[in-house]
Amino acid sequence: MPSASFPALRLRRARSSAWSRALVAETVLTPSDLIWPLFVTEGEGVEEPVSALPGVSRWSVDRIVDRAREARDLGIPCIALFPNTPLGLRDERGSEALNPDNLMCRAIRAVKDAVPEVGILTDVALDPYTADGHDGITDAAGYVVNDETTAILVEQALVQAKAGADIVAPSDMMDGRVGAIRAALERDGHVNVAIMAYAAKYASAFYGPFRDAVGSRGLLKGDKKSYQMDPANAEEALREVALDLAEGADYVMVKPGLPYLDIVRRVKDRFQAPVFAYQVSGEYAMIEAAAAAGAGDRDALVLETLIAFKRAGCSGILTYHAAHAARLLIDG
Ligand code: PBG
Repeated sequence: MPSASFPALRLRRARSSAWSRALVAETVLTPSDLIWPLFVTEGEGVEEPVSALPGVSRWSVDRIVDRAREARDLGIPCIALFPNTPLGLRDERGSEALNPDNLMCRAIRAVKDAVPEVGILTDVALDPYTADGHDGITDAAGYVVNDETTAILVEQALVQAKAGADIVAPSDMMDGRVGAIRAALERDGHVNVAIMAYAAKYASAFYGPFRDAVGSRGLLKGDKKSYQMDPANAEEALREVALDLAEGADYVMVKPGLPYLDIVRRVKDRFQAPVFAYQVSGEYAMIEAAAAAGAGDRDALVLETLIAFKRAGCSGILTYHAAHAARLLIDG
């Protein structure tokens, strides 16, 4: 039997009206696909706009609680917290990361108390706490040492879990840290605290505005290429994902987002695990800059990039546009 071809088959037929486009849409984006990253700062009633991220602010703990309520009301299931640790509390060992009363833990507790129905994802890495802006402990040569750093990350994850974190997300790229964190969580009775591994995290030029937001940009000595991945590599990303899943990661993440959708798709095709992507700060800034320059419609750019993540195979997306996108989706 000959297969149908033109003119019997006109693919534009299904595109000819809004209802039929909706009927055949292969991918949907809803607020429940979004994780909203938020920056926490000291004080009360504080909102500090982050100039490199127009529309994004650091919030004091009380105002973070308001953001969590906003997330709940918009149907955003989960928020991700990142602290801007006061400069005086940063040291070579990132000690403040282990303080059960640090900014992060106070924010976690406040959100859990007020809005328990919203999930809290916490960043496990030392860069908001170290004097040199690195994700771990550096030796005399400036090398970030793996095993010593991992031991501290395990303690950091436990401190966050005790404060009420639902998902701990190691973003440090040390070898073996997922297994070590999983074992410690089990030992401590946190059996339902999940791990979202920043499994394929690249040494990217798109993190600049984030480093401003957590106050580490000016501090950072050198680069992170000895632990974050080379943007040239894809096979290595699959090995990273395989290892993190074997060590007990519940979810894996690819980061940055749009420039790495090929990695998302390959991970999705290869592994039976939820895959997330982080549309990072530089990507957000690019969209905002493009819209401000008149290069495209902001709302359309936001929704098109987010549906691209879903099409590539993401279960969800971390994006600074989460609240705005959710509003657009709700308003149709
Ligand atoms: C660091 C961390 C970074 C981001 C999340 N966690 C920056 C880095 O690795 O230097 C970047 C997120 C963004 O750019 O939005 N542990």
